[in-house]
Amino acid sequence: MKYDIKKLTLEEKMKLLTGKDNWQLETANGKLPQVFLSDGPNGLRMHDVTKPDLPQKKATAMPNIHLLANSWDTELAYLDGATIADDCIENGADVLLAPGVNIKRTPLCGRNFEYFSEDPYLAGMMAKAYIEGVQSKGIGVSVKHFCCNNREYDRFYQTSEVDERTLREIYLPAFEIAAQAKPWTVMCSYNTVNGVWASEHAKNYKILREEFGFDGMVVSDWGAVHSGWRAVKAGTDLRMPYHANAYEELKTAYDSGLLTEAEIDTCVDRVLALIDKTQNDKKIITTTKEQRHENAVKIAKECMVLLKNEDGVLPLKKGMTVALVGGDPHTISEFNAMGGGGSAFVETAFCQECFFEYLPKIAPDIRFVHTGTFTHTLWAQMEKMSHLRLARGADAAIVFAATGKLDEREGADRVSIRLAIEQEDMILRTAEINPNTVVVLMAGSAIDVSPWIDKVKGVLFAGFAGETGTEAVSDILLGNANPCGKLSETFPLCLEDTPTGAYRGDANINRYTEGLLVGYRHYDTKNLAVAFPFGHGLSYAKFEYSNLKIEKTGETDYAVSYDITNVSSVDGKEISQVYVRDIFSNVFRPDKELKGFAKTALKAGETKRVCVTLHKRSFAFWSTALDKWQVENGEFEILVGASSRDIRLQESVFITLPDNEQYTLS
Ligand code: BGC
Repeated sequence: MKYDIKKLTLEEKMKLLTGKDNWQLETANGKLPQVFLSDGPNGLRMHDVTKPDLPQKKATAMPNIHLLANSWDTELAYLDGATIADDCIENGADVLLAPGVNIKRTPLCGRNFEYFSEDPYLAGMMAKAYIEGVQSKGIGVSVKHFCCNNREYDRFYQTSEVDERTLREIYLPAFEIAAQAKPWTVMCSYNTVNGVWASEHAKNYKILREEFGFDGMVVSDWGAVHSGWRAVKAGTDLRMPYHANAYEELKTAYDSGLLTEAEIDTCVDRVLALIDKTQNDKKIITTTKEQRHENAVKIAKECMVLLKNEDGVLPLKKGMTVALVGGDPHTISEFNAMGGGGSAFVETAFCQECFFEYLPKIAPDIRFVHTGTFTHTLWAQMEKMSHLRLARGADAAIVFAATGKLDEREGADRVSIRLAIEQEDMILRTAEINPNTVVVLMAGSAIDVSPWIDKVKGVLFAGFAGETGTEAVSDILLGNANPCGKLSETFPLCLEDTPTGAYRGDANINRYTEGLLVGYRHYDTKNLAVAFPFGHGLSYAKFEYSNLKIEKTGETDYAVSYDITNVSSVDGKEISQVYVRDIFSNVFRPDKELKGFAKTALKAGETKRVCVTLHKRSFAFWSTALDKWQVENGEFEILVGASSRDIRLQESVFITLPDNEQYTLS
């Protein structure tokens, strides 16, 4: 390593363990280079430290992480990371404080738009690729928030009380898979885990380092350190941001023998190793700002999910008259530059055209009529009536409905998973007068669509698409792009049906009583009806699955292969999912669990063979009795599906491990 710990005084070392300000590391009196940390994950969010009053810097507003996850495409996740990294290089950020891999335990969580999925395998695989993309350009990441930070209610003080098996099977695996990408840093969370602050959780850090092989630096979330010396002792290497008492606290602890120099050095070594990594020659910008925007649009088109498309209402056809309902030409750019609020909000320099200007330009063969704004004011109410007349006469009506950065944001949970009443009203009134109503849904998390879903013909989930909304949505509506995203989280029928029900938090107590039953594990095990299942997404093409073959390649290894045929006349992409179901077990197991997936591009009429591999962990549960991953002998069903509720092919395998690896009840 270039930076020698021996050249630092004890005071410099202790000072190095806390930030110099909000974003930068200490330099040990100029002995070390300046290192800058900056937020993500939906693009770069950066402030000028010397001018904190200035608005944040402009950067590429990428499709938000919840949307990226709907692509189920690790190559796109890599591209997303690499694109953001170019913004980092351009602005001098060394480490991007992203991605967040927390599991979507409840759709109420205000930060779900920053997180990948309700499923740990999907979240982990997407995060790993995103990290590889960022770090390929010599910029570091911070995988956050470690761990069990699954809602925003009382976020600085909430407890996360979670049993060991649930922790291992649901909340840790995304960090474990992400660790395979060798992230430079991990960020600890604010909450406690079973009564101990995440920043002081030596046991969890031991798992992270010794079992998951993480060898980078742990940074605290901003203000997550309560006792400086306890955090250092446990292995939180860097406390952020600057804290006036931090040095004194460590010094007092050292003087009184609570903290040893060896413990301080362990953290200092890891901070120095990070600084060392930031001094590399890979930081070369390879895209222009325009190319970064194009990357964002390319990604967004593969992330949007066609939830419903009755009678082929989409794509729009030539010669139609189409009413565009909702939105306002004056605010539409902001409306489209959608992202959740808080540290993940990206200010874009890219000024999107509104749908009402853009669509007629790229589709001159369709007549678009704009029905205008929908607001609460009386004037708007009166206007609305004439607008609705326009919608009545059209062949189809597209309603743009949205939440926004005030509804979905850091620091607070969502008040409801329904759209605002006036948005629902706008959809229902339009659907009343136009039988071909399509909703474009812009939100950062699952929405309760039940008040209006049966009244409309089509729904396109466009998510929080950053600066790409107009282009990506328009191309999909017009059929210039074939939708291929699939849901990375279930859309429940209502809040009450979700794993944590309508529970919103109680003082700072957060008990994970639903255990393993999170997301589709909950709905599928309990056989609950849902609005749209995990993994669901339609295409303008149609796909058939056939010829499942499962080949045993090792004691607990299998190659699962099958054909997918595009039986339509348009090219498309299909995301197929492989779930494993344990038929008999000594312990409780969820109905099925995702263990593999593939996205396949298929030309019209084309067939391709898809291969997904399964390994020991695909069949294992965490045994709290044996303190290890355990696979039990017996039958497992391998389910190949177009969603968790649309299983197309299935076959059983029988695992027969030697007796000494089994525990059998008699
Ligand atoms: C957030 C982190 C973020 C940090 C710095 C915290 O409040 O929880 O995700 O990286 O602030 O902005």
